[in-house]
Amino acid sequence: MDKSRLEEIRSRFQEEMQTELDSQAVYELRKRYLDRKAGLVSGLMKGMRDIPAAERAEYGESINRLKDWVVDHLGELEKKAKERELQKRYEQEKIDVTLPGKKIVRGNLHPTTLVRNEMIRVFSGMGFEVYEGTEIETDFYNFTALNTPKDHPARDMQDTFYLSDEFLLRTQTSSGQIHVMEKRKPPIKILSPGKVFRSDDDATHSPMFTQMEGLVVDRGITLCDLQGMLDQFVQKLFGAETKTRLRPSYFPFTEPSVEVDVSCFSCGGTGCKLCKGTGWIEILGAGVVNRKVLENCGICSDEYSGFAFGIGIERVAMLKYGINNIKLLFESDLRVLKQLRG
Ligand code: PHE
Repeated sequence: MDKSRLEEIRSRFQEEMQTELDSQAVYELRKRYLDRKAGLVSGLMKGMRDIPAAERAEYGESINRLKDWVVDHLGELEKKAKERELQKRYEQEKIDVTLPGKKIVRGNLHPTTLVRNEMIRVFSGMGFEVYEGTEIETDFYNFTALNTPKDHPARDMQDTFYLSDEFLLRTQTSSGQIHVMEKRKPPIKILSPGKVFRSDDDATHSPMFTQMEGLVVDRGITLCDLQGMLDQFVQKLFGAETKTRLRPSYFPFTEPSVEVDVSCFSCGGTGCKLCKGTGWIEILGAGVVNRKVLENCGICSDEYSGFAFGIGIERVAMLKYGINNIKLLFESDLRVLKQLRG
């Protein structure tokens, strides 16, 4: 009987288990000795054929003993490897609970968003719904339907970015008025916030800024309703003492048209730097919806009337936060934005 081969395997295993093995090495060791097909111990079984019948049983038994011995040791090795590895992980992942915590930097909403949200909140309380139009508009919705045909001098009031003869970047959220009036019949009470674009660039003007449009159409709506509503709005936005003042103005889509001033919320009306000594600050354009605009949208102007207004959101944010350059609202400079948390 070829016992020497058995002993050879046993002493080889003995030797191999002397070194410190990690789980991967133990796994490979197991494969090398016990793999059903290629394992060294399994290989011994294959040699059974050559053993004389009388010795086979004993030979088989010794292989099984060797196998059990290898299995036991592998188990032991595996346990030790796992323990060592766990220990290593504990050491690596050790945390010092006495270290000061990492500071989590909290972001805040942009001042333009804060003002926009505040306006929506106030107007929602008065029953306005939000309608958001598109930034690319047709000439028709931005101008023609708003009573500003191609050769109308009022087109010069807004330097327009044309994309083609037909398409442009909307210069005013007033285009939303037309979309809404085309789709819905009065009573209408909507608010339309969004970006608008004009080729204009200085300390108080930016080629892109945001406006908030308001439109109310129903039976018997007058300029008085506009003023009443604006009074409430500015009092909620700037404080209970704030008053409004309407000055005549011109927009092709409103008749009459007005420019709305609020009493200066910085000095209360006595005159200061913010209001340039006048006691009043201009905040929006508005007016009674021009009959022609109603008719353009298929709304009978004998039966219905309405008012509309458009507010520059950045302008209000600048006034509210005392910012003198509109660019500060677009530069995303954290040193500035951190100071304007609302
Ligand atoms: N669309 C006008 C502007 O951008 C503002 C406005 C809106 C005026 C609604 C009257 C009515 O200047």
